[in-house]
Amino acid sequence: MEDLQKIAQVCERAARAGGAELLDWSQRFTVREKGPADLVTEADLAAEKIVRQTIAEVFPSDYFIGEESTASGEVEGILNESKSCVWIVDPLDGTTNYAHRIPHYACSVAAVRAGQVLAGVVYHPVAEECYVAVSGRGARLNGSPLGASSVSKLDSALVAVSLPPQVQRDGDDVQKLLHVLEQAQAIRRTGSAALNMCYVASGRLDAYWATGTSAWDIAAGVLLVTEAGGTVSDLSGDAFDLSRPHPLATGTPALNAELAAILRR
Ligand code: IPD
Ligand code: CA
Ligand code: CA
Repeated sequence: MEDLQKIAQVCERAARAGGAELLDWSQRFTVREKGPADLVTEADLAAEKIVRQTIAEVFPSDYFIGEESTASGEVEGILNESKSCVWIVDPLDGTTNYAHRIPHYACSVAAVRAGQVLAGVVYHPVAEECYVAVSGRGARLNGSPLGASSVSKLDSALVAVSLPPQVQRDGDDVQKLLHVLEQAQAIRRTGSAALNMCYVASGRLDAYWATGTSAWDIAAGVLLVTEAGGTVSDLSGDAFDLSRPHPLATGTPALNAELAAILRR
């Protein structure tokens, strides 16, 4: 297996290159709709191109999954490859924020083998925050070790959520949100799944759950949270699997259990 450190270095180089591209485009992009309420800009495409090039310079024969170049239907067939790394990239997570000039977005790069994340980097170029996780070697923000929150009860927890773009008021997602709203200290919907995972890893958020997310939104974040000592499960509290990419991420197992009891209803 390639040296883990080398993989992590390429992850970081690629995420930083993607982030720089996003900043470069931030005063001149145009927006179009890929689908209903699903935006894309030249920045998404340019960032994915430079991330892909940066990875290919070092690992030309590895698999690549990028939000802007891989059809959703193709992801599952590649995810569990074990012959070489699968690079999973969201070049711009938070496109709606970006399009509205809200400076809360990031470039996310993860290296996965046999379904396990080996290294993950999320770079927030406006804040100049680089979140790096390496399997078995911890998680860092700009070089300083990260630690997830120790909050164990929902009534003391700041919780973020990602919902799909279109929800029904009497649908499952809204009902679950209402239950958590009643019981949590407060709720946030930030517009960036990748940064929500980083914020759980750093203890800024106590918990985060997501429906409607894809593997590229959260692959790096999953390793960041677990390497920071947090817990990642599926929404029922069972083992998380990237092929079902709707995580429940918490600082503590107790908070995970309390939230999973609500979300599995
Ligand atoms: C989206 C954001 C959003 C989440 C969506 C994602 P994009 O990613 O992470 O917070 O709710 O599910 O698709 O489109 O900005 O890359
Ligand atoms: Ca995304
Ligand atoms: Ca994206």
